[in-house]
Amino acid sequence: MCTLKKPKEKGPQNTTVSFANIGAPFHTFTMNKSFIMAGVIGWPVGHSRSPAIHNHWIHKYELHGTYGLFPVAPPDLETAIRGLKALGMAGCNITIPHKVSAMQYMDWIDPLAKRMGAINTIVVQPDGALHGFNNDGFGYMQSLYEAQPKWRADAGPIAVLGAGGAARAIVVSLLDAGAKEIRILNRTRSKADALAKELGGIVTSHDWSDRHQALGGCNLLVNTTSLGMHGQEALDIHLDQLPRTALVSDAIYVPLETPLLENARQRGNTTVNGLGMLLHQARPAFHAWFGIMPEVTAELQNTIITTINN
Ligand code: ATR
Repeated sequence: MCTLKKPKEKGPQNTTVSFANIGAPFHTFTMNKSFIMAGVIGWPVGHSRSPAIHNHWIHKYELHGTYGLFPVAPPDLETAIRGLKALGMAGCNITIPHKVSAMQYMDWIDPLAKRMGAINTIVVQPDGALHGFNNDGFGYMQSLYEAQPKWRADAGPIAVLGAGGAARAIVVSLLDAGAKEIRILNRTRSKADALAKELGGIVTSHDWSDRHQALGGCNLLVNTTSLGMHGQEALDIHLDQLPRTALVSDAIYVPLETPLLENARQRGNTTVNGLGMLLHQARPAFHAWFGIMPEVTAELQNTIITTINN
């Protein structure tokens, strides 16, 4: 159901809209100034927690707007992205499998996103230009500091498992945070080699079979592979070499505690699940679209945890 009163002027002013079927926690908005629309484009996208996160903030900060889910198949991506401006949307998040291919439709890409080789946020500018950003690394670093405020990227070597899109965003952010040595271990060695070559001498690549030994002296272990995710086999790794002072983090948030995190916690390491990354990456995008830098509160965490546990 979607009812629109004819606007007095072109644009989103003075419009009454009902968004009963796109996941907003409200049903009818009467707009005085502007009604702000954003959403997430992916394929499939039904599992995304982004609507729950952004609509929580829209409600909390008493804003006029909504955040919806947009399942867009790869052949339709260009049309969908070009439609953002035409629809008067503030922008959108971009998720799997479009994070790389969406870049070609941007008028400008943030240098950090260029280094990460992917975007996860589009902001439509006042003149209609499309600007691309990647906030995944920001979200990841915030989740580490939230777990251990005094953690320092330069305090020791870092081991990263995986060499896909998530690994790339995380490694770039760790480099920017001052990491002195990053060891990438990936099942397909050539992908780890390519990432190490591109990102420079601080980043080294190693055989997947070396993952147990590579943890020696490390300050942080990060899992960016899908191993340990709900429905997947667990990550097989021996943590004996890993100092108990090291942080152990997993980009996975379903389940909230993967077998890796459970093992690490039981031996005394501080652990960080993927929920913090998910919540914190949303903050800069919300700020860009809605004008408020939102908080990650216990209430929001509990709201999202409920969606994971159900
Ligand atoms: P994302 O964007 O989430 O990083 P991705 O680009 O598909 O997703 O990367 C998935 C990562 O998980 C890759 O590093 C992949 O290893 P390969 O490069 O060898 O494909 C890793 N991965 C997936 N399944 C794995 C498995 N069974 N064992 C080890 N690594 C696995």
